[in-house]
Amino acid sequence: MATILITGGHSGLGLECSKFLASKYHYNLILAGRSPEKMQVVASELQQTYKVKVSVIKMDTSSLVSVRSGVAQCLALIDKGEVDNLQAIICNAGVRFNGKVSYTADGYEETYATNYLGHVLLTELLLDKVADNGRIVFTASGTHDPDTSDGKIMGIAAGVTATELANTGKNGAKPISLGKMYATSKLDMIAYVYELDRRLSKSGSSILSIAYDPGATTGTGFLRNMPKPLQWLAETSFMRWVMKRNGVTMGETILSGQFLAAVSADKAYSNGSGKYFQSNNGKLIERRSSKLSYDQQRAKKLWNDTKILIHLQPNEVSKKIQ
Ligand SMILES: NC(=O)c1ccc[n+]([C@@H]2O[C@H](COP(=O)([O-])OP(=O)(O)OC[C@H]3O[C@@H](n4cnc5c(N)ncnc54)[C@H](OP(=O)(O)O)[C@@H]3O)[C@@H](O)[C@H]2O)c1
Repeated sequence: MATILITGGHSGLGLECSKFLASKYHYNLILAGRSPEKMQVVASELQQTYKVKVSVIKMDTSSLVSVRSGVAQCLALIDKGEVDNLQAIICNAGVRFNGKVSYTADGYEETYATNYLGHVLLTELLLDKVADNGRIVFTASGTHDPDTSDGKIMGIAAGVTATELANTGKNGAKPISLGKMYATSKLDMIAYVYELDRRLSKSGSSILSIAYDPGATTGTGFLRNMPKPLQWLAETSFMRWVMKRNGVTMGETILSGQFLAAVSADKAYSNGSGKYFQSNNGKLIERRSSKLSYDQQRAKKLWNDTKILIHLQPNEVSKKIQ
């Protein structure tokens, strides 16, 4: 049975996605995340309930060393025949930090490293193990688009380079706000998805590259770094009503997780490469992302800068995307 690797597949939207991948599409899963203990509990439950095979690999997406180690664990599972080639990689883990800017062991701003850089490294290193017609899916966010209410509530995405983003606030410079860093990590993710799609199709590859926005959902750990009163307020139906009235795209945890599974596995989305899908008030729709996300010149620079930031070696670049 084919296998799907998902980061953050043990909690929040990712868990709903994992459940649906197992129950509706009968995929085996690899859960990738920071805490093997937490993931193992979920893996056992998924295995028992849905009779699929669920493996666990330790991977902190904010650390290049940890991503490489997680990839090595995944390759070992494939080599030993314990899992099949990958039908999809779902880059779903993500955080919105609050407070002071912080840096990873690699010296990069933590939001950008966790949400964007680590997932690009994961994708690049495993691309050759993705099956024909397989999919690469990134969980993005409507907050990337400054022309929407979603973008306005988080902090307008900064259209600066990957190198500037990764190094924001260094050498006494004023750091970009963490709301903006979140929105921009998602903008760059979408631009990367489109550039990956262009390169895959140019080389004749049948692999799909897809961006997905789950909409504003409650009941996940997403706001965990925000002040407690704000977390409480965001969960109230009054606040959701206010947000909806102000044009924010509303998602719903179970449905948005199931939609993520659908764009990753359902035949209905087999022509979805290079597209942006959204969980929008109970429906899964295809829509345009922000203007900047379609800027091909910016995407090429982002592509090249990102490769340098993640220290990807020339011999590690898949022939499918050179
Ligand atoms: N909820 C929303 O309103 C919303 C809206 C738009 C987009 N999104 C996006 O949807 C995705 C899922 O978010 P969610 O709402 O389900 O929030 P969540 O419940 O907090 O899930 C986030 C997941 O990411 C994992 N994670 C965080 N940092 C990590 C790291 N350094 N390495 C590996 N895994 C890490 C977490 O694992 P741990 O258990 O180890 O913390 C958790 O499984 C995120 O990409 C988020 O940006 C959410």
